[in-house]
Amino acid sequence: MKRRTILVGFIVFALSLMFVFSVSFAQKKVSDVITLKMEGGKLAPVNFPHALHADKQKIECAKCHHKEPDPTQPEQCIKCHPITGAKEGVPVFKDAYHKQCIDCHKEVVAKGNKAPTKCTECHKK
Ligand code: HEC
Ligand code: HEC
Ligand code: HEC
Ligand code: HEC
Repeated sequence: MKRRTILVGFIVFALSLMFVFSVSFAQKKVSDVITLKMEGGKLAPVNFPHALHADKQKIECAKCHHKEPDPTQPEQCIKCHPITGAKEGVPVFKDAYHKQCIDCHKEVVAKGNKAPTKCTECHKK
């Protein structure tokens, strides 16, 4: 009986340790919700539920982090999509986001599921 209690206690301890480590590790990499805000932007910032997309919907990293040698270690979009004056064929910051986010949401809606496509559903006051 006693040995069993110790064993159970040890397993619980080990599991909670694993949990704490996995949580702090995940948070270090990317937060569950990222606030996206263009410098000088006039609309309400967009609260982007990263975990909902990457973990719950299991959308591939490379679908959004599309030009990365390693999509799990991405650069920020603004590095290649500046606010103004992007190179030929490369959309500027706002258009890059709108195209990536809204195009997919339209496909989701076309399949009969819910995803925001209206301005105020993303730019929430
Ligand atoms: C699926 C989500 C989504 C929808 C729908 C959406 N946007 Fe955005 N928009 C974004 C994201 C993400 C950014 C980049 C981060 C930021 O600055 O808000 C952005 C940026 C912008 C910007 C530049 C930043 C600023 O605040 O001035 C403007 C202007 C804008 N959106 C206007 C609109 C308008 C108008 C609509 C509706 C016709 C719309 N958006 C619909 C996600 C969305
Ligand atoms: C639906 C689109 C989407 C998917 C899928 C996605 N991400 Fe992201 N991720 C973003 C956006 C948008 C940002 C914010 C980028 C920025 O600030 O320029 C971001 C930010 C990050 C950051 C933080 C980068 C920084 O500089 O702070 C990391 C790390 C990251 N993502 C990893 C991942 C991994 C790993 C996956 C796959 C398991 C993934 N992402 C899937 C859209 C996505
Ligand atoms: C390392 C540079 C780089 C990063 C980081 C990057 N992009 Fe791009 N992106 C490009 C280039 C270059 C193009 C031009 C078209 C092409 O070569 O596919 C492009 C094109 C696009 C397009 C248009 C694609 C099409 O099919 O018309 C969208 C939308 C886009 N990027 C969104 C994003 C978003 C959102 C992020 C951040 C999550 C991001 N990009 C991060 C380099 C980058
Ligand atoms: C490849 C497809 C895809 C891309 C790209 C994508 N989304 Fe989504 N998004 C979804 C799906 C699917 C849902 C519905 C998830 C659900 O309800 O469980 C969703 C839901 C959302 C929601 C609503 C969450 C809620 O709690 O109801 C927001 C906000 C959102 N997305 C913002 C964004 C922004 C901002 C971007 C661009 C940075 C983006 N999404 C890119 C597929 C996508």
